[in-house]
Amino acid sequence: MKSKNLPAARPPGFTYRETKRGLLRRGGHFSLHAEDLPLASLAEKYGTPLYVYSTSTIQQRYEMFDRAFRQIPHTICYSVKANSNLSILRLLARRGCGFDVVSAGELDRVLAVDRKASKRVVFSGVGKTREELTAALKAGILLFNVESESELWALAECAGRLRTTAPLALRVNPDVAAETHPYISTGLHKHKFGVPIEIARSLYAKASVTRYLKVRGVSVHIGSQITDAGPFGEAMQRVAELVTELRHDGHRIEYVDAGGGLGISYDSSSIEDFPGLVAAYAQKLTSPVRDLKVRLLLEPGRSIIGPAGILLTTVLYNKTNDSKRFVVVDAAMNDLIRPALYGAHHDIVSVAAPSGDTEMETVDIVGPVCETGDFFARDRELSRVHEGDLLAILDTGAYGMALSSNYNTRPRPAEILVSGKSARVIRRREKTSDLYRAEL
Ligand code: LLP
Repeated sequence: MKSKNLPAARPPGFTYRETKRGLLRRGGHFSLHAEDLPLASLAEKYGTPLYVYSTSTIQQRYEMFDRAFRQIPHTICYSVKANSNLSILRLLARRGCGFDVVSAGELDRVLAVDRKASKRVVFSGVGKTREELTAALKAGILLFNVESESELWALAECAGRLRTTAPLALRVNPDVAAETHPYISTGLHKHKFGVPIEIARSLYAKASVTRYLKVRGVSVHIGSQITDAGPFGEAMQRVAELVTELRHDGHRIEYVDAGGGLGISYDSSSIEDFPGLVAAYAQKLTSPVRDLKVRLLLEPGRSIIGPAGILLTTVLYNKTNDSKRFVVVDAAMNDLIRPALYGAHHDIVSVAAPSGDTEMETVDIVGPVCETGDFFARDRELSRVHEGDLLAILDTGAYGMALSSNYNTRPRPAEILVSGKSARVIRRREKTSDLYRAEL
């Protein structure tokens, strides 16, 4: 079959291919596919809005990550918050992937998929409750990333009650600035995360003499959607120095948890060289700790699952207010909040490949929710679309469905996992009755 790539050949699991006549309402006879399946046929079968993921993309990205760190003992602990669908967790667990969780709920998901995976779970977050700490102790997780002195005592108390010991790392805040959206930058002292690296040593001293606690590592996470490897190296350099000092103080440091945060390219102007970016990132992370004989833990979320997903949506209406053109689609901010919340850019493409002579227009692509913030793109150049046409919002595998809500009592979309020519529903579309089931 002839195939032609998206204009900028991205993301990898989604390409324009020749399509049977009849499937497309308009346009040429090339259309966007998820692996070997036309998105138009998925929309017909499962409806829209619809999240569609590519299995091979997830696998490839996990494997590239894994390969980039082969020089050093490491465990990839996929960050469940990015996309917590059980089928996606299962796919990764089968490859030996570990998990980074931030709640008892996320831990439950991991255990539901593979009980034994608890040995590869790290637990992060500034506000773990005693119930959550206890659940994680019972599950026998690999490491608690402790973020304050008070949490240290809470963990000791919970472990004591269970007559067990809690393996821990302190999440240190290295005071390193990373170029990203202010809402997802975490590595400066003004942020709520971690303990200032300068006081870490005194906290490690307290932890090490506490029954029921065992010091095992150091952890760090400086933010998300960071596309420059530099700040990761800087943070790691500070962590490596701390590891040396802690060992000098007599602590057993087996793990360095480098967190997540590697960014992806959300637009077609920067074609992503993922292997190249991961290689640079791996080099920055590993060189400061290479001689320390530690196991590196990595918590990627977005870089594994982001480009593996798209949100498929149907054009409901074209409308014009004065000279302003709006394309109203059936997906909304409740399905994908990143544009509204962070002003995030997502490329949006027409599923039917526009023919060469299609006119371009400048439009706002908006959803049906009653908020001006309910937009996916503003003043975007888009080939002219008609009511009933399908659009794909790209790179929405991470923090898409995971951040979705039922605002406006909108049932959330179904999720489909594609592998080659087959598609599987991995979450059915919600019904309105699902939404009020817990109400009295
Ligand atoms: N580890 C920790 C401790 C984290 O806080 C996070 C993300 C990760 C790992 C995974 O980071 P990633 O590799 O996915 O960048 N909702 C925002 C992103 C929030 C990230 C929060 N923490 C967005 O849609 O951009």
